[in-house]
Amino acid sequence: MHKKLLIPGPTEVSQEILQEQVRHLIGHRGKAFSDLYRGIKSKLTNFFRLPDEYNPTVTTSSGTLWFDIVGRSIVKENALVCVNGAFSSRFAQTIKNCGKKVDLVEVDWGKAVKTRMIADKLESKKYDTVVMCHNESSTGVRNPIYEIGDFIRREYPKIIFAVDSVSSMAGDKILPAEIGCDVIFASSQKCFALPPGLCISLVSDRAIKRAVCVSNRGSYTDLVKIFEFEKKHQTPFTPNISLMYALDKRMDLLLKETYDQVIGRHIKMAKYTRDWAKKYFELFPEIGFESVTLTCIKNTRKKNIDELIAKLAKKGFLISNGYGKLKEKTFRIGHMGEWSINEIKKVLAIIDDIWELEK
Ligand SMILES: Cc1ncc(COP(=O)(O)O)c(C=O)c1O
Repeated sequence: MHKKLLIPGPTEVSQEILQEQVRHLIGHRGKAFSDLYRGIKSKLTNFFRLPDEYNPTVTTSSGTLWFDIVGRSIVKENALVCVNGAFSSRFAQTIKNCGKKVDLVEVDWGKAVKTRMIADKLESKKYDTVVMCHNESSTGVRNPIYEIGDFIRREYPKIIFAVDSVSSMAGDKILPAEIGCDVIFASSQKCFALPPGLCISLVSDRAIKRAVCVSNRGSYTDLVKIFEFEKKHQTPFTPNISLMYALDKRMDLLLKETYDQVIGRHIKMAKYTRDWAKKYFELFPEIGFESVTLTCIKNTRKKNIDELIAKLAKKGFLISNGYGKLKEKTFRIGHMGEWSINEIKKVLAIIDDIWELEK
């Protein structure tokens, strides 16, 4: 039996989207592909309200490629990386692995990074890049990127601000021009509700200009090369064309639903899940910094989470245990992509029954 995915990615993919991938392939250097790709980029531009100085691009990769692209093509010498969970920690390590110097703004798992913490660091040393994760899927914490972006733009206009929005873009409000970020990216298997294998990125002209003066950019990680090919509406290397068909369809569906409705639906699902969690447990993230696309719940009743996951799987749904060191201490419910409030209510009611929470 198929178990519907309420894990923090991959999320559930509809048959309508899956079917897009069985279409015949086309050559990626021909007009048909350029037309398809140009269409996708125009839909991304509309959906994310991108002004002229922002450029969408789609790489055939999971989201982590962009940790390397930032490390290789964006950071010149010194990066300040905000770390508050497993993915931001991996981002910091990746930039180090690319041979760049990294300092951290590090807070405990469950806490958010605040503007004043970044301000203190930026005052004490020169950094060319600030990096952070918007939505830490390991902890369910949502960092205040709008406030931080605004601060960086006003006080340090030369700094490039790169954001991992892997598990929030197309679910939470991500408007790069309002955030003031230069690079922001998301994996296809999260809020875009597609199979894994594509990374959707929104990149400012400033970031591309920066990349031009960074050496040793590699090949797959060369941002300059990526945008040279963008001019022809192509990708430097063979893209996953089948997934591009699926992304094209997804953008049609998102545009039809409209940006505000998509975000509103995610907010409703998050609010309902949080209220449910607070009734019986506690939320893991610091108050006011909870993710809109996944809820991380403290296991205050010392329930057996693995057992719940197995029982729920028999009813046809999959949720996640806590990430890494948070296993059994927390559990996570993803509410991203095509899920609706009624489906979320139904799944939470099943958990109520399994654990007899109402008794
Ligand atoms: C916040 C965040 N960043 C990065 C990643 C890594 O993305 P991918 O597995 O698509 O490389 C994930 C994956 O779960 C994530 O949740």
